[in-house]
Amino acid sequence: MASREQFSSKFGFIMAAAGSAIGLGNIWGFPTQTASNGGAAFVVVYFAMAFCLAYPALMAELIIGRHSKSNILTALRGIAPTKATRRIGSGVGMYGVIIASLILSFYGIVAGWMLAYLAESITNMLGWSEASEWLTNFGNTRNIITMGIFMVLTMSIISSGISSGIEKWSTRLMPMLMVILFALIAYVMTQDGAMNGLKIYLVPDFSQLKPSLILDAMGQAFFSLSLGVGTMLVYGSYLSDKESLPKLGVMVTLVDSGTAFVAGLLIIPAIYVAREHGTNIFTDSGELIAGPDLIFQVLPALFDSMGEIGIFVAFAFFTLMSIASLTSSISMLEVPVSLAVEETPASRRQATWIIGTLIFGCSTVILFNFDQLFGFVISLTTVYSQPMLGLMLCVFAGWIWHRDSLLKEIKSGHPEIEGTFFWKIWPNYVKFVCPILVLVTLIQSVAA
Ligand code: PHE
Repeated sequence: MASREQFSSKFGFIMAAAGSAIGLGNIWGFPTQTASNGGAAFVVVYFAMAFCLAYPALMAELIIGRHSKSNILTALRGIAPTKATRRIGSGVGMYGVIIASLILSFYGIVAGWMLAYLAESITNMLGWSEASEWLTNFGNTRNIITMGIFMVLTMSIISSGISSGIEKWSTRLMPMLMVILFALIAYVMTQDGAMNGLKIYLVPDFSQLKPSLILDAMGQAFFSLSLGVGTMLVYGSYLSDKESLPKLGVMVTLVDSGTAFVAGLLIIPAIYVAREHGTNIFTDSGELIAGPDLIFQVLPALFDSMGEIGIFVAFAFFTLMSIASLTSSISMLEVPVSLAVEETPASRRQATWIIGTLIFGCSTVILFNFDQLFGFVISLTTVYSQPMLGLMLCVFAGWIWHRDSLLKEIKSGHPEIEGTFFWKIWPNYVKFVCPILVLVTLIQSVAA
């Protein structure tokens, strides 16, 4: 067997993992959840969740992945000591692979919308008004075309492998994403109304701290760090034994939460600038518009009202959204592809194009039955399955995997870790605290 590919550097891994984590969940989900959940109060709870629950769960994935050097299914089967637990491992692994594929099938649709609006900003620059109109029509033909282009981009990167696909593109695109994000914030801050948005975002309203907010923050942290479905496990499996996992995990968590926070400095002020320009920013029931209408109506109306420069702002904004989507979608596709490459005779190329096309087919089915399926698939995957799978992965790390082998993996390459806070706390934390916390989320989401 050819030797397994690896990330060529620590920086490459951080860019890839941050690329997976930073996505629509950060730039769109987090700011709007914050705005509708009492501003900074939500931010505080979210950060607590990210570091007290998501980080330890992320560590479970990275450690299992790096130890097993394989896809999620083989990894879980490999650390299970008995026939029965091995069977459970295969089941959980397969469940993860299916959920990762389903997440990609709805994510691809949304990313296709972003690409359409990106193309629209370009046709606007060129003065092609008919093309612009077509690009914003949300018809199925447009949706399928832009989604198809997005999937082809995703597949091209994945078929090139780890270092010359995932790593190469993440290290190029993530710095670009950061530059665009900060440039847009700087611009929006100079606009009238931005300070009102900033106030809504940063002044906490603790009267809104209700149990559902705490649980929302937990779900958001899970989605944002790409947990449960094996993305981080697979990325961890391409890491060299020399790297210190706890430190890398902290860095990824910090970059992910930091970017979510910073994205709030863009989106929420932008909403209030739009209001200043006469756009309605509230729903009929008086809540802040947060869903697709925010991204595809409120913000475009704002860009339109900015005159010439608005076209460039729109271009920058939809480039930002498209990059964020792409570096996340590649990590989703890598989950089923790594399984196929390692467990079937298929080459990476064949596996990528076959699986990618199947997922594209799923997205098309969702598009044609949008009202029935779109929301259903999102809640099935992100609300129910991600926490459930996260819980199972913590159980695998804490209960099923032999403790000595787990400790040996943590120490691998870093004997000095023995005796540190992480060493003393994490193994029991992931065994007891994480599953209980996740269980609470789960029960809440079932009861809701
Ligand atoms: N973390 C990504 C985001 O914030 C979404 C994602 C979920 C990516 C699951 C991979 C796996 O948008």
